[in-house]
Amino acid sequence: MVHRFDYLVLGSGIAGLSCALKFAPHGRVAVLTKKNRAESNTNYAQGGIACVTSSEDTFGLHIRDTLDAGAGLCKERVVREIVEDGPDRIKELLDLGIEFSERDIPSKPGERELDLGREGGHSKRRILHAEDMTGREIERALLAAVESHPRIQMFENYFAVDLITTRKVGLTGSNRCIGVYALDSKNGGVHTFLATATVLATGGCGKVYLYTTNPDIATGDGVAMAFRAGARVSNMEFIQFHPTCLYHPEVKSFLISEAVRGEGAKLVDAQGQEFMHRYDPRKELAPRDIVARAIDAEMKRTGADCVYLDLTHKPEGFAESRFPNIYRTCLKYGIDMAEDPVPVVPAAHYQCGGVVTDTQGRTEIEALFAIGEVACTGLHGANRLASNSLLEAVVLAHRAATVATALPRLPEDFPAPTWVAGNVDEPDEMVVVSHNWDEVRRLMWDYVGIVRSSKRLQRALARLRNLQREIQDFYWNFKVNTDLLELRNLVLVAQIIVISAYRRRESIGLHYTLNYPDGVRLSDPPQDTVVDREDPAFV
Ligand code: FAD
Ligand code: SIN
Repeated sequence: MVHRFDYLVLGSGIAGLSCALKFAPHGRVAVLTKKNRAESNTNYAQGGIACVTSSEDTFGLHIRDTLDAGAGLCKERVVREIVEDGPDRIKELLDLGIEFSERDIPSKPGERELDLGREGGHSKRRILHAEDMTGREIERALLAAVESHPRIQMFENYFAVDLITTRKVGLTGSNRCIGVYALDSKNGGVHTFLATATVLATGGCGKVYLYTTNPDIATGDGVAMAFRAGARVSNMEFIQFHPTCLYHPEVKSFLISEAVRGEGAKLVDAQGQEFMHRYDPRKELAPRDIVARAIDAEMKRTGADCVYLDLTHKPEGFAESRFPNIYRTCLKYGIDMAEDPVPVVPAAHYQCGGVVTDTQGRTEIEALFAIGEVACTGLHGANRLASNSLLEAVVLAHRAATVATALPRLPEDFPAPTWVAGNVDEPDEMVVVSHNWDEVRRLMWDYVGIVRSSKRLQRALARLRNLQREIQDFYWNFKVNTDLLELRNLVLVAQIIVISAYRRRESIGLHYTLNYPDGVRLSDPPQDTVVDREDPAFV
């Protein structure tokens, strides 16, 4: 089946939905999303969205904090543009009806103002939040606006398999993206979607790792599709590990927000002893890379399975009122945050690199845009400052739509290529797929985690190459399903991470290697790592 739209948005998180709303006044929009429409990293965001809104804060301070966290690899011009666009985009979110938490103004009885949270690496309180469920509130309001717009059509359970480019269909000239092949995962069959502009808003790749804060959708599909289509991918070695994921045998992935540390929670060992002062003078509020490495080092030193986050010194009722969702979830597992320190471990959280774009979200393939976590604009450098990703997503959605709506339209009679199904047999042994899923995730956790070494990276790459061959065979020989398609993307993205990490012969930001410990800088100033499908490392 062939569908023709003016604009195609892949993904229904903050980036995709914001962009769809910007497109709608200019034409018909399709939003494809691979599962339920709300299922996205956005929906689980806790701490909030960073933006300069207080008279005590300045753009200059937000820019400086972002550059400091990014460890010399942020692009200053990009940081400035995104930070300075923030207030206009926040105003639009408020106009959509998003309810951020407020507080009484002490000097003005009866008046209220935005309640600003604080997180690691921020020199000021500047995080707008909706209690500890900011993402859920943003997703709710964006979905309501999208659902009521007559020009936007949502395709739930449509899995984008591969981008369609003019080069791929055998046309000469510049390489232009004209749409996507997508699997209707409920009813079967691969559909062709054509559009003037295609936007990748498919989020990150946390599921490449065994332990992650991300939901199941985060399998790096956007990076994998763009890479296969010929786009360059940058800085994928910088995977951010969040320091504090709840450690409990019954919980798959539940974040304990950095805002908890922002409100004064201490990290302690099993004996209740604080340890962060030994790692950084900012202690619990040092940037994430430092805190995650410190926890990893403490766990290795003591042999403990976790450390603890202690908020028990706060006044009665504080934890429950400021962090109601975290409080309730912990209580469900027998941990009363007001009385018990919460067991926590680091887990893969955020992909700082991604598909190379400019500050309008343009990739190097004509009419293909990438926005949100899938993209690498240069904002995050070697380590993202907390709560800057929701900001980046909403700013880039606006900017990409501004440029994309000025593109010449794809002719309505443009011939529609159809998907070549290859072999139509049902997979004979799905155990191969589930086994390889586990193997990729475990080896990435063991060999390509918080602390790396060249030897571990070489081991990882050798295994990933074998797995890639097996998965490709499976892909060509059997009918595709979502598990197989995700695995095909996971194994490619894992290789991109490993190859990028191997090439970075220095420890910087989130990439820490035993071969080049702190202080050794082989590139000065540090450079981005960039890979594409012509790279000989990808056999
Ligand atoms: P997502 O919100 O992840 O949306 C991706 C969408 O693409 C989904 O709808 C998915 O189903 C769809 N998709 C993926 N692949 C395909 C495919 N092949 N075909 C079709 N659809 C596809 N950041 C902050 O700034 N502040 C926070 O407080 C914060 N807290 C966080 C807490 C948690 C637990 C997590 C996991 C992340 C948090 N982050 C936070 C990071 C932030 O939530 C994400 O970076 C951001 O939401 C990404 O938005 P996005 O629109 O790019 O992608
Ligand atoms: C958190 O609430 O700790 C997550 C914030 C972020 O990832 O930016």
